[in-house]
Amino acid sequence: MTTTKRLVLSSDHAAIDLRQAIAAHAKAKGWEIEDIGPQTPESTHYPKHGEAAAQKVAAGDADLGIILCGTGQGIMMAANKVKGIRCGVCADPFSARMIREHNDANILSIGARVVGESLAMEIVDAFLDAEFEGGRHGTRVDMIKAIEA
Ligand code: RB5
Repeated sequence: MTTTKRLVLSSDHAAIDLRQAIAAHAKAKGWEIEDIGPQTPESTHYPKHGEAAAQKVAAGDADLGIILCGTGQGIMMAANKVKGIRCGVCADPFSARMIREHNDANILSIGARVVGESLAMEIVDAFLDAEFEGGRHGTRVDMIKAIEA
């Protein structure tokens, strides 16, 4: 029996359309989606949206997260301030797969002003379809956790 995996998404105003497209794409792949917005295009502040998604993942309310802003950088920085979060910005599918397999990243950040929609979907697929490999990579992730502690 497989359990449906839960994915939380958030963004700032720069990435609403891409975020919603990714939510639909991930839902079609079988993920349970929690899209925490925002839903309207008024200018907003990426730190609060990064933190909100990160808190969901850190609390165990979501298995993974995908967050977006214009570059993916600012919202990633905010998310990584939440204990237990390992978030990387990716603009290519290889990196998106590797941050799951080697770094046990639990949030992917994408820059909506950096990558187009087709490439973004390939990045999302690479992230969502990969699994953490553990082993020597687990030792290194434990070292990251020790820094945080
Ligand atoms: C908003 O203009 C922009 O600064 C934001 O989306 C993001 O790129 C910040 O890192």
